[in-house]
Amino acid sequence: MEINAPYEINKKGHLVFDGCDVVGLANEYGTPLYVVSESEIRKRCKRIKECFMHKYTDTQALYASKAMSNVAIYRIISDEGLGIDVVSGGELYTAIKAGFPAEKIYFHGNNKTQDEIKLGLDNNIGCFVIDNDYEIDLIQKTAFESGKKVKALLRIAPGVSVNTHEYVCTGQIDSKFGFSIKDNTALIAVKKVLESHNINFAGIHCHLGSQIYSREAYYEAVMIMISLLGQIKQEYGIEAEELNVGGGFAVFDYERDKYVDIADFIETIMDTVEEQCSIRKIKRPRVLIEPGRWIVGESGITIYTVGAVKEIKGIRKYVSIDGGMTDNPRYALYNALYKGIAANKAAEKCTEVVTIAGKCCESGDILIKDLNTPALEPGDILAVLGTGAYNYSMSSNYNRLTKPAMLMTNKGEVRVIMRREDYEDLLRYEQI
Ligand code: LLP
Repeated sequence: MEINAPYEINKKGHLVFDGCDVVGLANEYGTPLYVVSESEIRKRCKRIKECFMHKYTDTQALYASKAMSNVAIYRIISDEGLGIDVVSGGELYTAIKAGFPAEKIYFHGNNKTQDEIKLGLDNNIGCFVIDNDYEIDLIQKTAFESGKKVKALLRIAPGVSVNTHEYVCTGQIDSKFGFSIKDNTALIAVKKVLESHNINFAGIHCHLGSQIYSREAYYEAVMIMISLLGQIKQEYGIEAEELNVGGGFAVFDYERDKYVDIADFIETIMDTVEEQCSIRKIKRPRVLIEPGRWIVGESGITIYTVGAVKEIKGIRKYVSIDGGMTDNPRYALYNALYKGIAANKAAEKCTEVVTIAGKCCESGDILIKDLNTPALEPGDILAVLGTGAYNYSMSSNYNRLTKPAMLMTNKGEVRVIMRREDYEDLLRYEQI
């Protein structure tokens, strides 16, 4: 089943997103502008509950908040009953400020500092996901100093490669993340944790990568992870409480018309877990997943105003917009493909193929190569779809561009959840 984000075209021929006229939003709030749909995010959380948390007992979904981290989203996720994964003191701090229930926070990352660990301990977060030997020692030491015992999962590199961009593959052996499944490294790490008095070993975690379309990859990973749980039981007489298989569930690829329903991934994961636990005679652990992009990716758009248009006859037409790699670095980093719609000409026929360029002083500052569109002129409004994940969270002030405001819509209602940066904001850390 395909879940498409809430787009329509109104009588004026304008693009409408989640009940809001996109041209109207641009006029009222200025551009560039991030817009995120609360109703879409909630719909997706509900879908995850329906096909995972309510369908199978003892399961929990965590929102991987690196995809988009701010107070508003943490509040929605909390309200929907999902947990979160955080990867830094900053994400953790934001979640705590949003009032997120600490026991549902999982702290990831491959190089947590002692201050970050302490922040987690002081706030009694639910679980640390330990990435390496250094972290076992540091978490043990810090928990001891705080007089606490913390729940922990060990992150495993299961040696499963996925067919996605090299920069977002994480489950292979040659990875900076996790204890390798090779050479008993993972098993030895479990022993070390079991001997750490201030750490309570709760289970294992893996994350294969991002924007994955292959159910087989999850099948393979679960096979390896359950086999490891079997070894842990055999060697140390312990049955793990939790198995976290990470995130990575792909969103709709408009260009290649590719999509796999999240329910299909979950079915593969759960069937394999049940079957393998039964074969290996181990207690079925609580199963966790960590979708980030799937929850917020298609729930967001970015709105720009067209400025300079330059045609190099017979070669290319460049249409520059008032944002770029500073608000969306994903084309520059991963050659990510986006769909763009001329919001004020949404009902018009596409007559040209253009390249949408950002305003940074970089040739690589492109948002969309070869966009089919009605002719674009200065002042037109362009909406880039599916920008909810890893856009705002990876944005920068390169060239001293100010970051856009962010709106949250809900079926025609609008609120500002992040104000637009101004030039004073750019100077806020300067010791003038
Ligand atoms: N769990 C862990 C441990 C992760 O590292 C990640 C993403 C996720 C879950 C969520 O993955 P998702 O469901 O969102 O695919 N900046 C890149 C993506 C980096 C993903 C990093 N880890 C991009 O823009 O494509």
